[in-house]
Amino acid sequence: MSELQFDRHRRLRQNSTIRNMVRETSLSPSDFIYPIFVVEGESNFKKEIPSMPNVFQYSLDRVHEELDEITTLGIPSVMFFGVPKNKDAVGTGAYHEHGIVQEAIRLAKKNYPDLVVIADTCMCEYTDHGHCGIIIDGDVDNDESLVLLQQTAVSQAQAGADVIAPSNMMDGFVIAIRHALDEAGYKHIPIMSYAVKYASAFFGPFRDAAESAPQFGDRKTYQMDPANRREAFREATSDIEEGADFLIVKPALPYLDIIRDVRNRFNCPIVAYNVSGEYAMVKAAALNGWIDEKRVVLESLIGMKRAGSDLIITYHAKDAVKWLHD
Ligand code: PBG
Ligand code: ZN
Repeated sequence: MSELQFDRHRRLRQNSTIRNMVRETSLSPSDFIYPIFVVEGESNFKKEIPSMPNVFQYSLDRVHEELDEITTLGIPSVMFFGVPKNKDAVGTGAYHEHGIVQEAIRLAKKNYPDLVVIADTCMCEYTDHGHCGIIIDGDVDNDESLVLLQQTAVSQAQAGADVIAPSNMMDGFVIAIRHALDEAGYKHIPIMSYAVKYASAFFGPFRDAAESAPQFGDRKTYQMDPANRREAFREATSDIEEGADFLIVKPALPYLDIIRDVRNRFNCPIVAYNVSGEYAMVKAAALNGWIDEKRVVLESLIGMKRAGSDLIITYHAKDAVKWLHD
């Protein structure tokens, strides 16, 4: 063997101290954004989402239970999703001054002023048909939807949102929302764009949690085809040109290549959305004793960081932070 030339990679893996010294990527509590589901018209309400163990819908009077834990753990940011009492064709609840998300934002900013509160800007939780825009002549009308999305974003900013995160996938949503925010005096509020969002089966459990499944058809005319990579560049490029401050890639695990592509091309912060179906799969396997949940979750999250994301929106955030401290 002595005459053979080969690299001795194991030199740098001999013990945990040296492995820690040469580690290239790390996870920290400040990487995470935690999604929270708030339900309108209920009190003393906390209900587990069946397909998402340990993730709950909360009424406003109990959401502090979640926010206390988040802030104690050092997680810097939450993203609110609303489940309104009433839905209608034009998604009134999305842009109502006292809509459920607006009220959740007000409450969070009042009691946790340092928490970065992100508002998801979309119509699907608020429309009776469950689409992310409004329907005209049987189809999602892009430009008419933009008007309502502008109103939604401004109402969220008025309620005190720190960041607007539009997830609707209408064309032009970033420039439309940027313009509306600027006009309303919110030039300083950043837009975290769901720029690269695929029409994914991995959103299934979320649609149970947010009660937002489309009542007819699907989202394939506005969300992306999972087979497309170059199209992700086009989506991200237009959003950056329109004024996006962050780019989200969603889902995360099946699209790590896209996260890396977007990271290499753009200099803004990149956000991975580790979606509900990814969470549900891990939880189901863990509950069966088939995988080591802690190791699988931390390995998945480090994979998203390694792929190039700066931030991760994840339902695992609280567990991950606890495990990082172990
Ligand atoms: C709403 C929205 C969705 C998610 C975030 N915002 C669902 C969808 O587009 O159907 C998915 C999040 C998840 O699955 O965790 N537009
Ligand atoms: Zn939507």
